[in-house]
Amino acid sequence: MCTTVRFGPTGLATGTDDAPPTGDLVECDFRPLSRPVPAKQPGRMTLLPTMGKENFKTDPKADEHVFRTIIEPFRIHSVEDIALTNLAQRESALARVHYNLFGLHADEVTIDLLTDSGTGSMSARQWAGMMLGDESYAGSRSFYKFRNAVVGLTGMPEVIPTHQGRAAEKILFTETLEPGDVVPNNTHFDTTRANVEYQGAEALDLVTEVGLDPASMHPFKGNMSLGRLEAVLEDDSVRTPLVMITVTNNSGGGQPVSMENMRDVAELCRNHSVPFFLDACRFAENAWFIKTREPGYEGKAPLEIAREMFSMADGCTFSAKKDGLANIGGFLAMRDPELAARCRNLLILTEGFPTYGGLAGYDLEAIAQGLSEVVDEDYLRYRIRSTAYLAEKMNDAGIPTVQPSGGHAVYIDARALLPHIPPHRYPAQAFAVELYRSGGVRGVEIGSVMFGKPSDDGTEIPAPMELVRLAIPRRTYTQSHIDYVAEAAIHAASKAEDIPGYRIVRQAPWLRHFTAEFEPV
Ligand code: F0G
Repeated sequence: MCTTVRFGPTGLATGTDDAPPTGDLVECDFRPLSRPVPAKQPGRMTLLPTMGKENFKTDPKADEHVFRTIIEPFRIHSVEDIALTNLAQRESALARVHYNLFGLHADEVTIDLLTDSGTGSMSARQWAGMMLGDESYAGSRSFYKFRNAVVGLTGMPEVIPTHQGRAAEKILFTETLEPGDVVPNNTHFDTTRANVEYQGAEALDLVTEVGLDPASMHPFKGNMSLGRLEAVLEDDSVRTPLVMITVTNNSGGGQPVSMENMRDVAELCRNHSVPFFLDACRFAENAWFIKTREPGYEGKAPLEIAREMFSMADGCTFSAKKDGLANIGGFLAMRDPELAARCRNLLILTEGFPTYGGLAGYDLEAIAQGLSEVVDEDYLRYRIRSTAYLAEKMNDAGIPTVQPSGGHAVYIDARALLPHIPPHRYPAQAFAVELYRSGGVRGVEIGSVMFGKPSDDGTEIPAPMELVRLAIPRRTYTQSHIDYVAEAAIHAASKAEDIPGYRIVRQAPWLRHFTAEFEPV
């Protein structure tokens, strides 16, 4: 099905026209993809029938014959065993952990899609770089290599290494927020939200409305609502020390943000003298979506696009466990030397000296190398295509997922798949459990277990969506693993009507999803 979406100057869809079904790529019917679009011009963009297949036909390396098989653009250099378990073993493991998949030993999981964070494989060049790690306490050579890589990417001169993304958030918010402040974001990731709230400030999610509808088709469902942002910035009764945009929008389905939206947000912030920061964990995946979906960018290299994204921001937080292609690490980068000096003082207190910030010299080497590998076109084409491939296989079998598929993960819409289970019986938890029971595949519930809020009458306010996230570690699983995941999901979904809901029998007062105990009802 090909849908034409009209969108206005804000990037918000203003209407759709249905076009005849086609099984192939279609061209933009309003503004040719090769021509840059002047900012703020209202227009129409034709969505590709299966977004994510973009660039397959235009891949210059496929000019003799259009190959449809995704091949991993690497070969395997060292291998790690995975556990192949039987149904009885998995059922007994589930009972032991009270149906909470966080309690499983990793050795009980066949394909682990709990997170794409820190779980990827490093390249031979990264491992080789680690042998060059300089472990000097101060002024390490590895720090300067890391710093040059970050400055080269972001253009931000102040680079503060941290042990992971949330440490960068904690330092930034401690230095900028006061109780009662408001921090707008498209959607705060849970650590970002928690760190904002820990300072007594409010974490405000301003993603466009289309981003909250799992089934809606739009190329940039991670965009921020400019109207709502403007209203916050113009409200003199609230202090907004900074505005953030998360690329890609992890808590909203891994959806990208357009360059146009970032440009408009940056301009609004500038007009109100409010700093604009990126939560840039998945910047390279976002750059690929811009390249393949936003008019005017298809001829640009991902690195060039990424640099343009960063050029609009005053600073960024970053977890190197995602698009840093490393197993640990992160940074805080910015342009303001005065704020950076304050952040460095706190860094010394909490993370370490400013030239290592909680990391070993060899970690800094791995991240510096990872940042150059992650913008490789062959890697990004494979990465985004293989996520879409998993979603398509499941969609073809009738499993509903957030549309179009995100960059790092496929999000199954459990509310649509298990309509007999009400939110307070946790449909996404129920399907995540069944997926593990059926095939040893571990995903994570992003629904009312994670985000449900108790109300005054003792019941719970459900989360806006009930999703099972299957996050794909980078360069780790092959196509046959992904085929296996699809087969396991289809098998689990074939039993949908018989899947029970769950009741929580024990829970912690906060972040309950990590340790809650369940029983089927
Ligand atoms: N921001 C975003 C958008 C994230 O997805 C994460 C982590 C962080 C910040 C925090 O980074 O883990 O290095 O401290 N996301 C992981 C996930 C945990 O599974 O999505 P961190």
